[in-house]
Amino acid sequence: MDYRTLGNSGASVSELTLGTMTFGAEADETTSHQILDAFVAGGGTLVDTADVYSAGVSEEIIGRWLAARPTDAAQVVLATKGRFPMGDGPNDVGLSRRHLARALDDSLRRLGTEHVDLYQMHAWDALTPIDETLRFLDDAISAGKIGYYGFSNYLGWQVTKAVGRADALGFAPPVTLQPQYNLLVRDIEHEVVPASLDAGIGLLPWSPLAGGWLSGKYRRDQAPTGSTRLGEDPTRGMEAWEARNADERTWTVIDAVTAIADAHGASASQVALAWLLAQPAVTSVILGARTVEQLDDNLGASGLVLTADELTRLGDASAPRIDDYPYGTAGVAQRGRRIDGGR
Ligand SMILES: NC(=O)c1ccc[n+]([C@@H]2O[C@H](COP(=O)([O-])OP(=O)(O)OC[C@H]3O[C@@H](n4cnc5c(N)ncnc54)[C@H](OP(=O)(O)O)[C@@H]3O)[C@@H](O)[C@H]2O)c1
Repeated sequence: MDYRTLGNSGASVSELTLGTMTFGAEADETTSHQILDAFVAGGGTLVDTADVYSAGVSEEIIGRWLAARPTDAAQVVLATKGRFPMGDGPNDVGLSRRHLARALDDSLRRLGTEHVDLYQMHAWDALTPIDETLRFLDDAISAGKIGYYGFSNYLGWQVTKAVGRADALGFAPPVTLQPQYNLLVRDIEHEVVPASLDAGIGLLPWSPLAGGWLSGKYRRDQAPTGSTRLGEDPTRGMEAWEARNADERTWTVIDAVTAIADAHGASASQVALAWLLAQPAVTSVILGARTVEQLDDNLGASGLVLTADELTRLGDASAPRIDDYPYGTAGVAQRGRRIDGGR
């Protein structure tokens, strides 16, 4: 396992993060604890959860594991999130001081700790002034409840605005952003990646295998059955399956991933994860796993080095397709020096 700094902070974290969205859902407590054991045994340190995962149960499962294994717990860098509703009241949601104060204390209680290393705003809140959120986060750092803070699912301008306001107010800066990012979903490269690079923010990509699509187990001519995430939800899962299955680019990407995996004697999952680890601004890739076997497979991505030619082949097969102004030729030119002939 290799280690990188957590965005622009001085904290060191494993380049693979354990995602725990399956805890209390697809993975019961025993399996979840085995997954945590296997992750730390493989050198993993960054563990990511959220208050809404299984309505708080994911945090509780992690809390009981931390309490039972104090030696391992001392190495863990713990990340959680707040923002989404944890109740039906009008203040049980959002990034207001009122909601976050309660949400953070509830997360700390479920995790059985007085401090989390990274507290992430799960999504932008258009109703709350960003200054109010930033003030809360800076106070939470001063109070010793959080070490750093970050965002998730923000647009590029939202990152830039938050960073600028934190700087103007003299508050601690955000250190990370958690976006969806994988070989099938590269849209963040237009706005979010440049904004993050500009601010020195580290990316923690979620759904790195696009929910399992990039693990190589799906076939064009074979619909998923009940044993996988896509098959388990007959409505949402099948809709997603049909939409992606009908898109030829999906299979072009999967063909490229599996060909490169075969050349390395690696799994498709490992290649898809290694591609992410090679992308600019990425700090640590958040692994999803329903079983210990899947986690062990995914941990094998650390140390898998793809050649420049392989990265080009994967990049070409999966190239984002927004060619409209200002993202097409003009957008590419703007990222360089200037648009010749433009006004
Ligand atoms: N910030 C956010 O808004 C947000 C949103 C979503 C997720 N996240 C975070 O990101 C983490 C990862 O997201 P994700 O679960 O969507 O990641 P993912 O890696 O794209 O998908 C994980 C799923 O793929 C399948 N899988 C994983 N490894 C496999 C392997 N080696 N072989 C075969 N199948 C494999 C498993 O599902 P099946 O076995 O059921 O097929 C597993 O549950 C979450 O745990 C959470 O911490 C954050």
